[in-house]
Amino acid sequence: MKKLLHIIATPRMDESRTLKVANLFLKAFKTKHPGWSIEDLNLYKEELPELTVKRIDGKYVLLVGKELPEDLKEPWQDIIATIERFLSADIYLISTPMWNFNIPYRLKHYIDIILQPKYLFQYTPQGPEGLVKNKKMVIITSRGGDYSTADTRGFDLQEPYLRTIFSFVGITDITFINAQPMDAMGDEVQHQKIEEAQRVAQEVAEKL
Ligand SMILES: Cc1cc2nc3c(=O)[nH]c(=O)nc-3n(C[C@H](O)[C@H](O)[C@H](O)COP(=O)(O)O)c2cc1C
Repeated sequence: MKKLLHIIATPRMDESRTLKVANLFLKAFKTKHPGWSIEDLNLYKEELPELTVKRIDGKYVLLVGKELPEDLKEPWQDIIATIERFLSADIYLISTPMWNFNIPYRLKHYIDIILQPKYLFQYTPQGPEGLVKNKKMVIITSRGGDYSTADTRGFDLQEPYLRTIFSFVGITDITFINAQPMDAMGDEVQHQKIEEAQRVAQEVAEKL
């Protein structure tokens, strides 16, 4: 069965503007693809492995194309399980607010865990190669301000970061839906912008 993995990077759940948009996306996606499984990965509810020195040692071993030695296999079990769950999906939906012009730290933690050589990328004589092929990603964000104008675009470190990191591992089909501004222009604009983003989210889901 095909799977959409919904990576939730806001702790606010019912209060979340990002999830208000994501919920409409998911509703439209389920109607279009009734046979798909939809799995939530809530980064604020689930434990993520810590990047201890031993686990980091393993990254350096894999970077040079070697296998993990016996003493690193056990510390790496949780990392491999987290990576396998990520790789089990065919489509990714990431729901993330902007925090300090970038992503919330739990999403960065998740990225630091899964971005491992041998699994998501490898070095070749021609340079780095992404290993996550033929997958699509939709990223729904919401922001207090508006970063869509020429004057403000440079402050948005979130979209360029996420595009860079996921295209590095091979996911190049990435669609962003940014609901903005959520805080800077008052409630009326907030509601209008959420509705606009919900309409776009439905259209994107229907085309997947
Ligand atoms: C810790 C924190 C940092 C934030 N940093 C920014 C920021 O740098 N730029 C911005 O426009 N909004 C910022 N915001 C506002 C949120 O992006 C905005 O309220 C968003 O809609 C929250 O999404 P949520 O309701 O899904 O949690 C920040 C909010 C929090 C809680």
